[in-house]
Amino acid sequence: MTLRVLTGIKPTGVPHLGNYVGAIRPAVVASQAEGVDSYFFLADYHALISTQDPLRVQRSTLEVAASWMACGLDPEKVAFYRQSDVPETTELTWLLTCVAGKGLLNRAHAYKAAVDRNRAEGVDEDAGVTAGLYMYPVLMAADILLFNAQRVPVGRDQVQHIEMARDFAQRFNHIYGEHFTLPEAAVEEQVATLPGLDGRKMSKSYDNVIPLFAPRDELRRVVFSILTDSRAPGEPKDTEGSPLFQLYQAFASAGETAAMRAAYAEGIAWGEAKERLFERIDAELAPLRERYQALVADPAGIERVLRTGGERLRDEQARPFLARLRDAVGLRSLASASHAGAEAAPVAKPVLPAFKQYREADGRFHFKLVEGDRLLLQGDGFGSPRDCGRVVGLLKSGAAMPRVDDDGRVWLDDAAVGALGDGVDADALRAALARLVEAAA
Ligand code: TRP
Repeated sequence: MTLRVLTGIKPTGVPHLGNYVGAIRPAVVASQAEGVDSYFFLADYHALISTQDPLRVQRSTLEVAASWMACGLDPEKVAFYRQSDVPETTELTWLLTCVAGKGLLNRAHAYKAAVDRNRAEGVDEDAGVTAGLYMYPVLMAADILLFNAQRVPVGRDQVQHIEMARDFAQRFNHIYGEHFTLPEAAVEEQVATLPGLDGRKMSKSYDNVIPLFAPRDELRRVVFSILTDSRAPGEPKDTEGSPLFQLYQAFASAGETAAMRAAYAEGIAWGEAKERLFERIDAELAPLRERYQALVADPAGIERVLRTGGERLRDEQARPFLARLRDAVGLRSLASASHAGAEAAPVAKPVLPAFKQYREADGRFHFKLVEGDRLLLQGDGFGSPRDCGRVVGLLKSGAAMPRVDDDGRVWLDDAAVGALGDGVDADALRAALARLVEAAA
């Protein structure tokens, strides 16, 4: 069985060394592994949320596509495409919009941050907030669910979006049958964040980046501007907390790193260390830089690559899948019998959430609410099975709607009865309870 892995790349200009080490290089390596089926796309619909400059959208898409290809992404081996070349994405966005809880979207980090900023400035909460920003997570869910991706490698800041995609998928599956695979976020823990010129995390917003494809002489100049301490040549130097050393390590083999460590201890001059770092980086990047220049000089070639990738996915997957989804929701021919769904492939029965009650080693009586192997609610311990059962009964019957506080504690009236499972929010809990009530009816 192959694992379907999908990654969206926001086209935001030529990447820097931090993007290369933290995202591009590991993703390209991962895409070459056996048994994975990789999807990489340029999220240009998403780009419209952050920029309204058409030339910038176009230019960035070109540069980012060329960057990834220059770094070894092989469009023959992975699906490489542009989001907007698969417009079924937008249609799916609508289908998902109609099952997405507005309350869940209210809590999306990017939207909340914009609202908080407005509040701090004393202007209207939603000033300057487009519905595009608000809908960002739904569009992203459509990217993922359109191809039923199983794993989505993302940075920490994106995990919430994957949880939302799961939530929308679950709701849709519950209503219309099992159409979507529930995706999982894969957060790369061991990839170090690269320090920038001033030692803080390399980031465009700190203006401390080393451009990935800077010409050799500019690369040298930038490397020489890395902040170092004032130790003189001959004085031993600390590798700990030295951005120069961390940068070197990100490019060097274990042996080279050990040699640099020894050189630090022996008091290598900063100028000499910078020279070595520059040569080491340049050795890896020079061939990439050359490929990048050639690729960017041939926009029509990249256009062809992206078009081909997108068209194939559309024909083989997106169009037929959307046809099935349209039928599932009732967007179907009026001439077909209303029970036409009966002829469609039978859909697997969705798993219902279930309550489990048990006694722990501490002698107390516990309950939990699970959905498949996902923990939705972990109940607190009760002194008697009767108290435990009473709470379960209330939740199960829909007689009482639980309330969830900011710490994820679940309350019935004025008593805390348990805690939400990881990545579960109040809406997901209520939706699960509603399904139970519905199923019992
Ligand atoms: N939101 C992602 C980011 O900011 C980009 C993205 C868009 C994405 N659609 C996606 C990532 C689907 C993974 C899957 O980096």
